[in-house]
Amino acid sequence: MSEIPVHYGTLSAPPTKVALVTGSAKRLGREIILRLHQAGFRVIVHCRQSTVEAQQLCQQLNIIRPDSACWLRADLNNAQALGEFAAAVPGQFGQLDLLVNNASSFYPTPVGTATLTQWDDLFGSNVKAPFFLTQALAPELYKQKGCVINLVDIHAEKPLAQHSVYCMAKAALAMMTRSLARDLAPTIRVNGIAPGAILWPSEQTTAVMPTLTEQDKAGILAQIPLGHLGQPTDIAQTVLFLATAPYITGQILAVDGGRSLGGTTKA
Ligand SMILES: NC(=O)c1ccc[n+]([C@@H]2O[C@H](COP(=O)([O-])OP(=O)(O)OC[C@H]3O[C@@H](n4cnc5c(N)ncnc54)[C@H](OP(=O)(O)O)[C@@H]3O)[C@@H](O)[C@H]2O)c1
Repeated sequence: MSEIPVHYGTLSAPPTKVALVTGSAKRLGREIILRLHQAGFRVIVHCRQSTVEAQQLCQQLNIIRPDSACWLRADLNNAQALGEFAAAVPGQFGQLDLLVNNASSFYPTPVGTATLTQWDDLFGSNVKAPFFLTQALAPELYKQKGCVINLVDIHAEKPLAQHSVYCMAKAALAMMTRSLARDLAPTIRVNGIAPGAILWPSEQTTAVMPTLTEQDKAGILAQIPLGHLGQPTDIAQTVLFLATAPYITGQILAVDGGRSLGGTTKA
């Protein structure tokens, strides 16, 4: 288990606020939980398969601040499980101020091979579940004048080769961000973050997709004007910024080292 980072900026939130981050036992979701917790939020970790990691993360956070973290498990592609999960959320700490829709599946679906099961999985985790979870939790967020942050992707705008279904799902999530920002205003703010290359795909993902070669990775790095991958902390810090920016809604902020500007760093 990695260490809790300690060198963050000075943004902070009132200690009573409660955040739920879906898919947060590992990787970017975990980093978001750590940052929000460090800023004073009580946190609800959500997982599907990573129950051991979720439990360990909460133990770690509750040692730092007793009664400040709990975890819930649900497959968000299962409508009944999503409903039960949403119903359980308000009871954890008695309120909800921030929902971060982070859980996602990601793998290629080359044209000619894509299946309905893959479609349902990719659209389910990346847009259907975020929509229905937001809808179910909106009454709680209304009470707190809370906000929603969706983890989108720069490939919602610019297609990633062989990933049409994932890209379409993220494009729908981008539109959901803007639509719900309009529909839930003026009480609930809804924003998105579009990461570029932050973490290479997980082992879970590489089990169903070819591993990126060093040449592939070099090709991606060549498209990033800032010349390096982002850090999970870059995403976590942006979540905290948007969570504490009262006049921003309906925006999707690219955190990508300039990659969405297009072109390559080579002449
Ligand atoms: N990593 C990057 O560089 C990058 C780039 C662009 C966009 N993003 C976006 O940023 C977010 C986080 O990225 P990441 O790479 O950290 O994500 P990830 O590791 O691929 O997935 C995060 C978690 O989503 C959960 N999940 C997937 N399907 C689920 C389902 N049906 N029900 C419930 N949970 C489900 C999994 O939880 P369990 O492990 O508990 O099963 C998984 O650990 C994602 O929305 C991703 O699309 C990331």
